[in-house]
Amino acid sequence: MSYFHDLISRRRSTRKFTEEQLTPEQVELILKAGLKSPTSKGANCWQFLVVEDKEQLEKLSLCKKMASKLISNCALAVIVLADPSESDVWIEDASIASIMMQVQAEDLGLGSCWVQVRQRHTAEDGSSEEYVRKLFDIPSQLQVLSVIAFGNKEKERPPFDDEKLQWEKVHIGNYKQ
Ligand SMILES: Cc1cc2nc3c(=O)[nH]c(=O)nc-3n(C[C@H](O)[C@H](O)[C@H](O)COP(=O)(O)O)c2cc1C
Repeated sequence: MSYFHDLISRRRSTRKFTEEQLTPEQVELILKAGLKSPTSKGANCWQFLVVEDKEQLEKLSLCKKMASKLISNCALAVIVLADPSESDVWIEDASIASIMMQVQAEDLGLGSCWVQVRQRHTAEDGSSEEYVRKLFDIPSQLQVLSVIAFGNKEKERPPFDDEKLQWEKVHIGNYKQ
């Protein structure tokens, strides 16, 4: 099996991290993966906001009503931002950058989890995007797509089981139900 296939089979969302910090080299490689990700027309409409401060991570973890608490125990959060005035397909560009950073993290043996911000709400029913924007003084022209949480895995999750892949979702030559 190729190394890349093994890598994407092992990548599972990690929501529990150890206390260990990431090294500056690990952080740099993760950010480089984002900065090297492909974008439509090479517009590079994304920006990345790096958060490692414990107190800030705690506040960021409250950006959603549900499914964002895991941010409070990660070592690094990268907030993925994009400027829609720079690209009409900013969601695609920012999504690709998000997953590229996650795959890079897995290659380093680190865990990660995507936390959706766009179109999500806080416990008080406010916009998650607005919450994050306010917390970090993010200019209003930038949209907040996601927060990607990174850290050392508390425990390894089982890789994908090739026997359980949904091959029924693949249509060959023609669409058949
Ligand atoms: C667009 C997107 C949004 C997601 N949002 C969240 C989230 O807000 N919180 C969370 O814990 N996981 C989130 N995830 C992780 C998914 O729940 C996870 O990828 C999915 O359950 C499959 O599990 P796996 O990543 O271990 O293969 C998100 C993943 C994607 C791709």
